[in-house]
Amino acid sequence: MKSQNVATEIKSLLKTRFVGRQLHYFPTLSTTMDTARELVKQGAEEGTVIIAGTQTAGKGRIGRSWLSPEGSLAMSVILKPPLKNLPHLVMIAALAVVGAIKQVSGLDAAIKWPNDVLINGKKVCGILIETEVAEGKVNYADIGIGINVNFNAGDLPEIADIATSLSHESYKEISVVQLAAALMDELERLYLAARDGIPVHREWQQRMETLGKRVKVDTGRTIEHGVAETVTENGNLVLRRDDGNLVEIGAGDVTVIKE
Ligand code: BTN
Repeated sequence: MKSQNVATEIKSLLKTRFVGRQLHYFPTLSTTMDTARELVKQGAEEGTVIIAGTQTAGKGRIGRSWLSPEGSLAMSVILKPPLKNLPHLVMIAALAVVGAIKQVSGLDAAIKWPNDVLINGKKVCGILIETEVAEGKVNYADIGIGINVNFNAGDLPEIADIATSLSHESYKEISVVQLAAALMDELERLYLAARDGIPVHREWQQRMETLGKRVKVDTGRTIEHGVAETVTENGNLVLRRDDGNLVEIGAGDVTVIKE
């Protein structure tokens, strides 16, 4: 399909006020995150969206790479939120993905803290947020969302054991155009609600499969063990260590310990 057609089709389905109204579609990009940053430099408006059919150098969290073969949805959304809403973006993005997946495929996805989206215990989506804050103001918060839509993750040795896709889980091809539009609708709805002061962490918490489980959390500086007890309003994980003390963790990689 021609780039112009994809962008026009997605826009024709959108119900948003501003997210996706400026939409840039590329059949292939190195990474939508770099294009987003370039567009911010050129003065892109809040809500500008960049979508790539495939990425040749997709970026994951903590310096990892992200595979975006044909059949992926790779999207970056440029937001300029008030500083107080910055911690909410992780939750908003994950909830928007869960909602869009349900709408378009009927599948129930779960969230693994902080922002992986899983189906049947396997990763179907990753979220990466890049921000620039100066003098107490958010210059940009680029939300990168990668969803495995119509390919078989089992064919890719790097992710075969840990990942899945929407087509694999639903036994049918999923419309990337419909998924992209639903995702933007959900994202804007949740973002505007958060800006109006409506807490997002409760719904996020309900969707989280990590809570109540014994986990190992690699924070990059320390390894914490304990039971994932709850989350705070800003999305931090509250862990009960074996000595009974509680510790609040802002970022890290969680592994659920099978008992
Ligand atoms: C992760 O789980 O490690 C985060 C993966 C984020 C992938 C998305 S795909 C769209 C955007 N562009 C990128 O290069 N990365 C994010």
